[in-house]
Amino acid sequence: MTRTRSAIITGTGMYVPPDIYTNKDLEKMMETSDEWIQDRSGIRERRYAKDGVGCADLGIEAARLAMARAKVGPDDIDLIIFSTLTPDYYFPGSGVFIQEKLGSSKPIPALDIRNQCSGFLYGLSVARAMVLSEQYKRVLFICAEVHSHAINLSTAGRDVSVLFGDGAGAVIIEGSKEAERGIISVHLHSDGAHKDVLKIEAPSIKHWPMMTAKMIEEGMHWPKMEGRHVYKHAVKRMPEVVNEALTANKIDADDIDLFLFHQANLRINEAVMQQMEQPLSKSYNNIDRYGNCSSASIPICLDECVRSGRIKKGDLICMSSFGAGFTWGSAIMRW
Ligand code: ACO
Repeated sequence: MTRTRSAIITGTGMYVPPDIYTNKDLEKMMETSDEWIQDRSGIRERRYAKDGVGCADLGIEAARLAMARAKVGPDDIDLIIFSTLTPDYYFPGSGVFIQEKLGSSKPIPALDIRNQCSGFLYGLSVARAMVLSEQYKRVLFICAEVHSHAINLSTAGRDVSVLFGDGAGAVIIEGSKEAERGIISVHLHSDGAHKDVLKIEAPSIKHWPMMTAKMIEEGMHWPKMEGRHVYKHAVKRMPEVVNEALTANKIDADDIDLFLFHQANLRINEAVMQQMEQPLSKSYNNIDRYGNCSSASIPICLDECVRSGRIKKGDLICMSSFGAGFTWGSAIMRW
């Protein structure tokens, strides 16, 4: 079927808090080493937000840059989509924080996405469908995470905490008649059998009250991860879902100009490129500077590549992510 309309990204933005924490800084907080962190993950440093700063505060900064680059103002936005696993409040979702901060004169809807590290691809699929169906003309889609306020920065939490950082990425997605450009496909999956291998359990609505001193004592509010289990599945599922997208679109991996993967671990991304028989030079990683920013990782990579000229008009881009849930996915886009 020939496409007559497309969903295109017309602006990108990113924001990371100014405070840099190197691996050496973490050595002062817990028993770890720069060498262990770099060897296992490729991370050298990450950003941490100050106390009192939440994900919507980072998100609005990225959003303003994306809007400026798309040359649109607050009243040009018809829908806000906000993705995070580190929300400002238990409820309401952080999307309404953006609606307020945006200064829009209209009470536009704000939709919240909860798909962890796959949040960008899940949100992209919703935004694409919204503009292709012409329900909304222009979507502001923000992914923002403040992990630093939810990780155990002592030796007990080192297996998880050294991996994560704070940051935000945003895109403007619009319907367009440039049918040959835009988001060509999004393929999404989940497998809830693995929901307990990477999680924060509390506060939990399964209990009354949903947060107790005992839960805190037991550390139920800290993230828990079976790292090796996650790694094993990530290196299987990511090539699988990338191949699914390539096959569905009759595209050869060699035709992809740039692979943008979630930034959970440099080793995972290198293993995926190896399985795809693609040179590492065709992928872009910034995990060394920001760590794992969950759903914000891919849009931050995207913004850096657009601004540096690494992505040029007409380039074919393949994105993929894998994260807690498990959730995973891929997307193909012509820039
Ligand atoms: N510093 C120093 N030593 C550490 C640290 C640390 N920060 N963390 C763990 N160790 C120790 C362990 O205690 C263990 O010691 P032992 O051998 O004496 O028992 C040793 O290092 C090895 O630990 P492993 O967990 O087996 O290390 P592994 O090689 O598996 O690497 C890692 C861990 C980096 C977490 C890896 O498993 C990984 O990347 N997993 C996938 C992460 C991921 O993809 N997450 C999904 C995205 S996140 C999201 O969706 C929210």
